[in-house]
Amino acid sequence: MQKSDHLQIINGLILSSVTWKDRWYNRISRRQQLLRGQIVRWRGAQSGLRFGVGAGTQILYPGCLNVGDDVTILDYSYLHCLSNKGVNIGNNTSIDRNLWLHCGGNWQANGYGFIDIGENSFIGCNGVLGAGGGIHIGNNVLIGQNVNLHSENHVYSDKDRLIREQGIRYEGIIIEDDVWIGSKVTIVDGVKVGQGAVIGAGSVVTKSIPPYAVAVGVPAKVVRYRASKGD
Ligand SMILES: CC(C)(COP(=O)(O)OP(=O)(O)OC[C@H]1O[C@@H](n2cnc3c(N)ncnc32)[C@H](O)[C@@H]1OP(=O)(O)O)[C@@H](O)C(=O)NCCC(=O)NCCS
Repeated sequence: MQKSDHLQIINGLILSSVTWKDRWYNRISRRQQLLRGQIVRWRGAQSGLRFGVGAGTQILYPGCLNVGDDVTILDYSYLHCLSNKGVNIGNNTSIDRNLWLHCGGNWQANGYGFIDIGENSFIGCNGVLGAGGGIHIGNNVLIGQNVNLHSENHVYSDKDRLIREQGIRYEGIIIEDDVWIGSKVTIVDGVKVGQGAVIGAGSVVTKSIPPYAVAVGVPAKVVRYRASKGD
């Protein structure tokens, strides 16, 4: 038996166990997502067509949120969008459940932080985007589950003062187009991940990664570069 025959049989078995009730349930769930998206738009967000928002998702300060067409943010996510530049999400980008996103703004100040996510990108479940210093994520970026991006650091140089009173410094994080970030990766402030790079699961990225590099480990080091098919 060919591998593709085997796959067809498995696919057939899976498809035959999808009942009309599953299809009906999926359709209702999608309608509910779109309805929640409409409510977020009514509360002040700018959105394109078919903006889906999952159950239990909290979007604070939707006036700072701007999403394109076919954007979905799944269940139990928390987005605190208050900042001057806000949260901008491009067409056809999806965010899986339980995202935590904070732009760093508060009642006294709008904040410098921002999130820009390009088109056709994906963020896996349990993502943490601490965007006080700004996070740019390009087009066609794949981010695995449990990934943490922290675009700010506490100042701690003076041991005689509380760390919490010494303020915060930030440079921002940039993830260029076509990057794949494995699950459980942490990226700290000041890092730029170059176009087409791959970051292995569980890595802690403390320095910028060049384009098309494959980097793994704690701290992440480049182990090789991606090649063209003809190389
Ligand atoms: C980084 C990755 C893509 C590399 O895969 P690969 O191209 O097949 O590379 P290899 O497995 O040959 O690994 C190359 C070397 O890096 C090491 N390595 C690979 N992934 C690693 C990781 N995440 N952490 C530490 N070391 C790693 C390997 O042990 C190997 O070391 P060696 O040369 O000393 O034996 C893959 O290991 C990985 O981490 N994938 C992420 C999976 C994931 O998170 N998926 C869910 C989200 S979509």
